[in-house]
Amino acid sequence: MTGKRILLIVGGGIAAYKSLDLVRRLRERGMSVRAVLTQAGAEFVTPLSLASLTGQEVHQELFSLTAEARMGHIELSRDADLVVIAPATADLLAKAAQGLANDLASTLLLATDKRVLAAPSMNLRMWLHPATRRNVETLRGDGMLFVGPGDGAMACGEFGPGRMSEPLEIVAAVEAALKGDTTIPLPGAKPRPLAGRRVIVTSGPTHEPIDPVRYIANRSSGKQGHAIAEAAAQAGAEVVLVSGPVTVPDPAGVKTVHVETAREMLQAVEAALPADVYVGAAAVADWRVGSEVVEKLKKGPSGPPSLGLVENPDILATVARHAKRPGLVVGFAAETQKVIDHAQAKLMRKACDLIVANDVSPATGVMGGDANTVHLVSKAGVETWPTLPKPEVAQKLIAHLAALIHAKEGGA
Ligand code: PMT
Repeated sequence: MTGKRILLIVGGGIAAYKSLDLVRRLRERGMSVRAVLTQAGAEFVTPLSLASLTGQEVHQELFSLTAEARMGHIELSRDADLVVIAPATADLLAKAAQGLANDLASTLLLATDKRVLAAPSMNLRMWLHPATRRNVETLRGDGMLFVGPGDGAMACGEFGPGRMSEPLEIVAAVEAALKGDTTIPLPGAKPRPLAGRRVIVTSGPTHEPIDPVRYIANRSSGKQGHAIAEAAAQAGAEVVLVSGPVTVPDPAGVKTVHVETAREMLQAVEAALPADVYVGAAAVADWRVGSEVVEKLKKGPSGPPSLGLVENPDILATVARHAKRPGLVVGFAAETQKVIDHAQAKLMRKACDLIVANDVSPATGVMGGDANTVHLVSKAGVETWPTLPKPEVAQKLIAHLAALIHAKEGGA
């Protein structure tokens, strides 16, 4: 669970002291915690304790000019993998069930696009009251997750249900929730078959320097690779796009790493592993100039310089044989003749699961153009798609990859 981000809302209840321990337990497991302290919560624990334990600013006000300038409340509500309410008081649950948004905590609960896990804590009569029962049922129906409450002696002297779960029980519930997709899609939103998956895509050409002002390049525009990265993100994946020098914009919802050379691209791809899927759509230069030339080459009496090309590392073949090999490794084949034959040879030579072959002869206009005709080459056979705009090829490819992953897992 290392790297997961928790937004912890601390409500006003005696169990708030346990939330301090909860922060420690979550951080011990490599998660980061950002805390929101309600006005009532601040009667039980101090912002200073929470700030010290989380190592981050504690958010308390809805209309705080300074806090809003640093991180708006909408961003705060989305910049987490899971929202946890502990203690979840009767008041906080009632507000959430009603959809009220009159303070920071209730506004975040209404604005968030992530699942919410509540650890209720209240007097047993409050917990058993029909109003609270109705609210909890409503919230369960809305998708809120619950941990506890447990039975036991209460601070008020009574005995029964209403005690907040212990920090380690809440941690277990957090870990269970984080195993699934924690993003709540908008009503009517498209399905997200790659939710919870990590995808690395390469795109564009590489530039291999000849001297400080000249380089070896190719005609790839990045349109196809970028469209694939965007389609993967729309399908719910966490996407790292490693892009060579292109003029197309970075796709929305994707982490884009810009590189120039094949060696930089390999380094960025390896740094982005592990992943569930790798798609190598970049037109990586096969060769680079052997010796680095620091000064601009000059014309001279000895005629044109010899470039002395050496082979670049093969990124696709490296990823396919990597200790952290993604479950699905997809390469492209850009060919000008015997498209399927060459693609089949690449499938074997580069040890990938699928090759997307395309004819890049100048007459096709594929390199740099807006449309593509692809053939999916795998051990299962060859599937040819009609000529489509590159974004449509990307969406169809991502749907195909998602189906392959699910079939593989279903059959496992
Ligand atoms: O960018 P666009 O203008 O939209 O054009 C899209 C495209 C034609 C570039 C794209 O559809 C495409 O075919 N990309 C692969 C281009 C290519 O380099 O093909 P290749 O047959 O030379 O290489 C085969 C595979 O090995 C590719 O997945 C390539 O990324 C990979 N490779 C190649 C060399 C190398 N050193 N490392 C690699 O990883």
